[in-house]
Amino acid sequence: MFIINIAQIATPIGNKAHKGKKMQELSLLQDAFIRIEDGLIIEIGKMSELSGQEVYQGEVIDAQNLCAVPGFIDSHTHFIFGGYRAEEFVSRLQGASYMDIMKMGGGIMASVNATRNTPLKELITSGHTRLSRMLRQGVTTVEGKSGYGLELETECRQLEAMKELNKFHPIDIIPTFMGAHALPPEYKGRETEYITYLADSVLPVVAMNSLAKYCDVFCEDGVFDVEASRMMLEAGKKNGIRPRIHADEIVTFHGAELAVEVGAVSADHLLMVSEEGIRKLAGSDTIATLLPLTAFSLNKPYAPARKMIDEGCAIALASDMNPGSCFSDSVALIFALAVIQMKMTAEEALTAMTLNGAAALELADITGSIEVGKQADINLLAYPDYRFLVYHTASNTVEKVIKKGKLVYDDKACDV
Ligand code: NIG
Ligand code: FE
Repeated sequence: MFIINIAQIATPIGNKAHKGKKMQELSLLQDAFIRIEDGLIIEIGKMSELSGQEVYQGEVIDAQNLCAVPGFIDSHTHFIFGGYRAEEFVSRLQGASYMDIMKMGGGIMASVNATRNTPLKELITSGHTRLSRMLRQGVTTVEGKSGYGLELETECRQLEAMKELNKFHPIDIIPTFMGAHALPPEYKGRETEYITYLADSVLPVVAMNSLAKYCDVFCEDGVFDVEASRMMLEAGKKNGIRPRIHADEIVTFHGAELAVEVGAVSADHLLMVSEEGIRKLAGSDTIATLLPLTAFSLNKPYAPARKMIDEGCAIALASDMNPGSCFSDSVALIFALAVIQMKMTAEEALTAMTLNGAAALELADITGSIEVGKQADINLLAYPDYRFLVYHTASNTVEKVIKKGKLVYDDKACDV
């Protein structure tokens, strides 16, 4: 494939997360071309460098007036689940709190009950629809978590669904085991026993069948405390499954500090992160993944992104798409909230949604930026400048999506 007349290529550059001030650095190239072979970017240059006499083999895309940015990486989702929780959303609007609903047996447990009763085929079908919705917004790689089974069979079914989808959906799916998403009622008051069950009877099966790259835990007051979370993540490590964590979402609980201690790839949410947590994250390789759509949906204060970047953290942005706390996959709204509410710059937000998201899935050497040698995961925006990602507020600006060198979505192919 040959993409010509690109108004602007806007991309961070590198093979690892950008921290602090470096998040601001983008490479900008006007009036450019990208040459792709076997799914990889093999040449990038200015149109003026071409003789005009080239004979193009393969598909040519004329990207006049379009801006190319890297495919977006949604590095935190729970997109495989059965059932919906619309009534819970509405009762939260009327004042019920997320944690109160959970304590009364609703919330995550409502989705667990529904998912336990959903066959694999249905999980695959609904998962496919949700992935395609993300693809149309420029997402080319997605992380997805289990955690709506809380027992061996359903946890594995969720992970199997992702494995199947990964075979035929254009989006790359990175699966995370999150058996420690909530304490199932059958283990009430026996938190440690539940973690032991996961460690001894579930994780080894997940590992043996290569069903997950990561292990996650909901470290939160009233869910899993720091000690139980540490046990879970260490058990994952023993099985060769790398740690990531839901940390400091509802109250300050020092999950960020735990993330750094166990060498987590990413600490996520961080609405209530402590000063010490920020300092420790800044001094570590753990990426701080912020999920503004969840704060928006729960009507909570946003994570202190500006302070974290100023102190030197690497920030990734992701959706947290799930049936409860955040039933949204809107990339455009992530950008809007990041720059309007969290005071990130447009450049930082683009880095967070691309290279740093890739790094949060340890994929920054193959995707997350537009560079020779990387996978051709590229979005063409309907505007000539990357700043329209934030300026055309909360609206999808993606016109074409290229995944591994193939045009997988084209808004222009749809004639309304
Ligand atoms: O990231 N915090 C825990 N897990 C999800 C919510 C899942 C749900 O509400 O179903 C989250 O917000
Ligand atoms: Fe989450």
